[in-house]
Amino acid sequence: MTYPRCDQTVAWSALSGHHEAHGRDFDLRQVFADNPDRVTQLSVSAPEMLADLSRAHWDVATQHHLLDLARECQIEARRDAMLAGEPINTTEGRAVLHTALRAPRGEAPFSDDVHNVLDRMLAFVDGVRATAGGTASGHIRDVVNIGIGGSDLGPQMVVPALDAFVHAGLNFHFVSNVDGQDLAAVLRKVRPEHTLFIIASKTFTTQETMANAQAAKQWFIEQGGQDIGHHFVATTTNVVGAAEFGITTTFGFWDWVGGRFSMWSSIGLPIALALGSEHFRAMLDGAHAMDRHFAEAPLAQNLPIWLGLLDVWYRNFKGYSSRCVSPYHHGLRRLPAYLQQLVMESNGKRVDAQGNAVPYATSEVVWGEPGTNGQHAFYQMLHQGTDVIPVEFILVKHASYRDPASLSPALRALLKQQHHMLLANGLAQAQALMWGKTAEEAILEKAPTASKDLPPEVIARHRTFPGNRPSLSLLLDEVNPRSLGALVALHEHRTFVSGALWGINSFDQWGVELGKVMCKELLPRLASGDTTGLDVATAAMIERLR
Ligand code: F6P
Repeated sequence: MTYPRCDQTVAWSALSGHHEAHGRDFDLRQVFADNPDRVTQLSVSAPEMLADLSRAHWDVATQHHLLDLARECQIEARRDAMLAGEPINTTEGRAVLHTALRAPRGEAPFSDDVHNVLDRMLAFVDGVRATAGGTASGHIRDVVNIGIGGSDLGPQMVVPALDAFVHAGLNFHFVSNVDGQDLAAVLRKVRPEHTLFIIASKTFTTQETMANAQAAKQWFIEQGGQDIGHHFVATTTNVVGAAEFGITTTFGFWDWVGGRFSMWSSIGLPIALALGSEHFRAMLDGAHAMDRHFAEAPLAQNLPIWLGLLDVWYRNFKGYSSRCVSPYHHGLRRLPAYLQQLVMESNGKRVDAQGNAVPYATSEVVWGEPGTNGQHAFYQMLHQGTDVIPVEFILVKHASYRDPASLSPALRALLKQQHHMLLANGLAQAQALMWGKTAEEAILEKAPTASKDLPPEVIARHRTFPGNRPSLSLLLDEVNPRSLGALVALHEHRTFVSGALWGINSFDQWGVELGKVMCKELLPRLASGDTTGLDVATAAMIERLR
């Protein structure tokens, strides 16, 4: 099935015209003054969250054109094809069915396979958790997940995000980098008789993961570890590879689960161990609720559709090349890293389905840090730099801490106050980005550290904020398994929407292959020093590094 590409639609031309006519001098302060209903009109409810899109650089007219674009590109048919399991990952001939991993039994393709593995994995989880933290040999206290990319980033993001729900007797460690420093730092903290290693790799061939897994096994044996079968498990589609490594307990998944979409599969084992079966299922349910919203809500009330359209509008018409993810929730500190893989590995493509180079920009750069830390690092640039970078705030009404009953009432009161500080900071940043500060306002202020050598009006210019900087806010009641599931699924679908409109394959990742192949070729040369046939730059580097 071929679908119209975004730039071949009538709506694309209409959007260009609209941008020429209204987009260049768009000013948030003015549009709020002109339209008192803007917040209501540009807010969208979705499972577990409310999105306030009123401070984005668009208006209702822009949205109409964007909806036309979505319709002309047949976004609903494309979405339905994905959900039905059609092989939309055309370059690999695969279906894209991460949504099937969180559907109730009987409601999606491969349901029996999915639920059989899920049930088996959660039974294993219940067993480990029953004695976790115990002192007897074999009782698990430390879980070490060895995996990289999609076999690392999901669990590594979710476990701290849901810290309030994590089993008190278990510590979680995530080893991903081939740099031995990563593994060595973890091995210093754990004992073989109390450690469960999870070797997480879809392919079970990834260099970094295999190297760390071998080193972990070596350490386990050297330290007198008994019963590898009890202390090493694998989560992989390559059951044979895991068996060859000596692993007897394997939880499988399937080629229709992309690595960056795999935290819902057995790759989520560390999450399940941390949270327990009930909460893991709640996370799946939250994601499924978002899947249904994406599948069923009319386009004009469909949050993933809106966000995907906003991404296209920003990238192709406004020319914004990056977006900053700013969760005002410390638990979500790895969310930007997670979204980097999700968005940039999916949509960092330059040819359409037919292999033609696309004449427009695709994936934006995604980056960020949790608030308030980011404010003390890069917010200077967001407020006063020359680039306009949309900021995405995630604001959470209720804080959650592990074992709050253990905190004294006085400490609880202080932490509540800190939560208000956190929220006030997030609100203030969105406000400051939009309103800015004029030179006239700046000149009225007393600048305590102002140089005496510069006239006040010059200093005021340095203290001016242009404002009119775009942001959006996602509001959650709480970060819990269900809401986090919904939040991640929202971003998956949003990424699908922008990728579909761009006409690219969001589900392959050929761009990571070339470097892997070259690395294999270079590895023996570092040992031998043989630089025959290499380009001079690489040869010189090898000589210097040896
Ligand atoms: O970075 C490329 C990639 O293939 C990712 O898509 C994937 O998540 C990661 O490597 C890890 O792959 P595997 O799970 O097969 O070890």
